[in-house]
Amino acid sequence: MSLTVYRKSHFNAAHRLYRNDWDDKKNKAVFGKCNNPNYHGHNYEFEVGVTGDINPETGFLIDIEKLKTIIKEEVEDYLDHKNLNLDIPEFKELNPTMENIVVLIWNKLRKRLNSNYGLSIKLFETPRNFVIYNG
Ligand code: NI
Repeated sequence: MSLTVYRKSHFNAAHRLYRNDWDDKKNKAVFGKCNNPNYHGHNYEFEVGVTGDINPETGFLIDIEKLKTIIKEEVEDYLDHKNLNLDIPEFKELNPTMENIVVLIWNKLRKRLNSNYGLSIKLFETPRNFVIYNG
C-alpha cells in the first residue's frame, strides 16, 4: 500500500525571461509579457507530494510538521520576495521559467528527504499555468 501526502505552500518572486544572445524583438516574441525589462512578479503556489508507506507505529507516512519545516527552509526562505534572476545563483545563466523553478525546488527538497520516499512537485505560476515534476 502506497499513499501520497501533500503540503501546499507559496512564495512571491520577480523574474524576467530573456536571452542575451537574442535581440529585443526576438526576446519579446518568444517570452511575451515575461520579457518585461523591469521585471514583474508572480504569486507562485506549489504542492509537495511525498509518496511512501504508513509507519504502523505512528500512523504517519511522514511527519508533516517536519515536511513543513523542510519546505520553509529549502524553498520559502530561499525564494520568497526575491528577484529570481538577480538573487538566486542557479538563475544567473538560466531562465527562471516555471519549468526550471520546479526542477530547482525538487532538487533542494530531494536532498532533505529519505530516499525511500517518492517526491512530486506541482508548481503554479498563475492559477491556470502549472507544471509537475517527479524527478
Ligand atoms: Ni513572468
